[in-house]
Amino acid sequence: MEDTPVRPGPEAPASAEVPARVEAVTAEEVLRRRIVSDIHDDTLQVLAEVAIRLDMLRTNHPELDQEEAFGELGSSVRDAMDRLRTLMFNLGPADLDTRGLGSTLRRLVDVMQGRNAQIEFRLEDALDTEPAGEIRIALYRIAQEALTNVRKHAYAHSVEIVLDDADGGVLMRISDDGRGFRATQSVPAHYGLTMMRERAEAEGGWLRVLSAPGAGACIECWLPVEPHG
Ligand SMILES: Nc1ncnc2c1ncn2[C@@H]1O[C@H](COP(=O)(O)OP(=O)(O)OP(=O)(O)O)[C@@H](O)[C@H]1O
Ligand SMILES: [Mg+2]
Repeated sequence: MEDTPVRPGPEAPASAEVPARVEAVTAEEVLRRRIVSDIHDDTLQVLAEVAIRLDMLRTNHPELDQEEAFGELGSSVRDAMDRLRTLMFNLGPADLDTRGLGSTLRRLVDVMQGRNAQIEFRLEDALDTEPAGEIRIALYRIAQEALTNVRKHAYAHSVEIVLDDADGGVLMRISDDGRGFRATQSVPAHYGLTMMRERAEAEGGWLRVLSAPGAGACIECWLPVEPHG
């Protein structure tokens, strides 16, 4: 197993760059929420209206059901609505604050399980302390990217997320039994792993990748319960 050399530990001193990075992460989340509510309140409403009008047309003109093009129109609208809902889900989660981390991750795992029957997804949530909002978002985004990587790259049979309290923070481990990779080599123009690490560090935590070809992969990170600084 190889370990990328980033593990300053919970007590690591705050770096001078951190506030600017935290600001960038927060600005990104605000923008994501704005996009989600714009899609929801605007585009999705327009499409819902189109779907309702198509149904009314069908009711008032039963002969339209014989028209192939009319049927296709209806399924294109439903397809577009489904895609927008998926986009909103991926940009979300809008209700992380009210649901809490464990429950929101459980839903993410369930959705991923629904889309990937060949992988067994497990979540072990032993967390007693709910972290602050900003930390919750960071952990959620890290888990989302790590699980997406498993789906895209790992060819795994199973993947497990473990959440636990540790040293005044949250320890999260996402491990799969897939084909693994050389964790010390960064891949140009691929940003997932770098962004996961930057998110953890921006909150005063750390993230490390344990993997080797043929040996599965494990993303382990620790974030404080409250953002520092
Ligand atoms: N769980 C995993 N199992 C096997 N290989 C992995 C796993 N996670 C990452 N990798 C390898 O590490 C590389 C870098 O991952 P990273 O998330 O940074 O980029 P990416 O997923 O290729 O692209 P993106 O920028 O969309 O995230 C991947 O291309 C893949 O080869
Ligand atoms: Mg990735």
